[in-house]
Amino acid sequence: MADRYFHLTRTRPGRFLSKRLGLPRPEPLRRWSAERPTLRGGPLLHLTAGQSRCADAALAAALDGCGPHVRTDTAGISGISDTSGTDAHHSAVVLDATGIRAVAELRAVHEALHPVLRSLAPGGRVLVLGSPPSAEDHHQAAAQQALEGFVRSLAKELTRGRTAQLLRLPVASAERPQPAEADVRAAESTLRFLLSPKSAFLSGQVIEVAGAADSTSAGRASGPTGPDGPAAADERPLGGRTALVTGAARGIGEAVASTLARDGAHVVCLDVPGAEDRLSALAARLEGTALPLDIAAPDAGERIAAALPDGALDILVHNAGITRDRRLVNMSAERWESVLEVNLDSVLRSTDQLLRAGAVRRGGRIVATASIAGIAGNTGQTNYAASKAGVIGMVRSLAPRAAAEHGVTVNAVAPGFIETEMTAAVPFLVREAGRRMNSLSQGGLPVDVAETTAWLAHPDSGGVRGQVVRVCGQSLLGA
Ligand SMILES: NC(=O)c1ccc[n+]([C@@H]2O[C@H](COP(=O)([O-])OP(=O)(O)OC[C@H]3O[C@@H](n4cnc5c(N)ncnc54)[C@H](O)[C@@H]3O)[C@@H](O)[C@H]2O)c1
Repeated sequence: MADRYFHLTRTRPGRFLSKRLGLPRPEPLRRWSAERPTLRGGPLLHLTAGQSRCADAALAAALDGCGPHVRTDTAGISGISDTSGTDAHHSAVVLDATGIRAVAELRAVHEALHPVLRSLAPGGRVLVLGSPPSAEDHHQAAAQQALEGFVRSLAKELTRGRTAQLLRLPVASAERPQPAEADVRAAESTLRFLLSPKSAFLSGQVIEVAGAADSTSAGRASGPTGPDGPAAADERPLGGRTALVTGAARGIGEAVASTLARDGAHVVCLDVPGAEDRLSALAARLEGTALPLDIAAPDAGERIAAALPDGALDILVHNAGITRDRRLVNMSAERWESVLEVNLDSVLRSTDQLLRAGAVRRGGRIVATASIAGIAGNTGQTNYAASKAGVIGMVRSLAPRAAAEHGVTVNAVAPGFIETEMTAAVPFLVREAGRRMNSLSQGGLPVDVAETTAWLAHPDSGGVRGQVVRVCGQSLLGA
């Protein structure tokens, strides 16, 4: 369903009217394409706050993979706020705040970012690197937690498609409270994702990456870089891997299947038998496999394992989902049961069956689909929100055990309002509110959830686990 308001604000009279009336003016977001793989604007700016020194060489190497960047000490940044013209503007500002351990040191965050915000290009990124709040040092915890409130607020203030996130890196030890080189390297795939057009619809998020020692158990286990060899690894990071995507016939699932195939995976596309035509057409286009199957079937996990090309998979994406909305007073038991069954029970059951059968290879990735409704709740969606909150519970509990016992990461994506047939079916006013009530004033696209899934599925994302990543443009609901 076309977003008419968005298109109106791209016309001259629409621009005039929305400005005069103080209405939201959504910025067209740049998504990743092979022709335009980088952010708009000039070099990325790398700053440090106070004594933070996040393994400089490793961070510089990681940032190299994101495009040209300049390293500047806070003392040297006055004057760069006056850049003019998009190319002179910075595509991103990365602030190393990992070493902040006391509230007084937060001043350095203001000192670093205040002068440079005006130099951030439209669609630019602010990425603050922090550390996990300590359980032993409440001053450090207060200061690091403060960064969360800071980033979430800044993300709401930024305009024109600019976004802000907080990425928490582990510190080496209490005696050496800075991330080690290997820990920064473990976060490289996340840095690349957050500093690329692939994360266009993510804002105000807090993401925590485990240290290198913890990442290796769930790292690149099924072959160094896939059968295409190291040279092809950057373009086809999932080469040689098998992915299964449920609910792949349309919407977000179709985009996830297409994006994983773009990244080199052989994709097994699963959807209900009623969607077989669309499913077969998609599988043919992606040179994958179609698997018509109701995921709620009691033996779905076993039937999936039997249908896999070599009996095992590397990436499992639980995307299939349904809504049966009614207020609880009007909700039949059937509506309640069906949503809990498809969205939650079947996710738990098939995951258990596949893990028990050893059908998820070491280095594997499980990505489950939650929703911001499962975080904030939503009128008319007690069944749906319960199912999606349940998905989050599963992910948080299973993640450490799946990593330790199977070498597999488990994470969730929590979409906000995404333009699909599911959201096209909601009433006009609710749809309009859903689109506008986020910091980017627009709905996301299926590809936004797909790119997030591809990052979580990346062989280098072994340190990302137990995370619930909202793909919602910083929705006012639960963001
Ligand atoms: N679109 C949004 O704004 C939004 C927001 C938050 C969460 N989500 C979640 O994202 C996922 C995809 O959403 P979408 O908007 O693309 O939905 P959609 O309705 O467009 O597509 C869902 C797909 O899942 C399939 N499916 C349903 N039940 C199934 C079953 N029992 N077995 C196999 N396949 C089944 C459907 O046939 C369909 O192809 C869902 O889990 C949804 O809850 C969507």
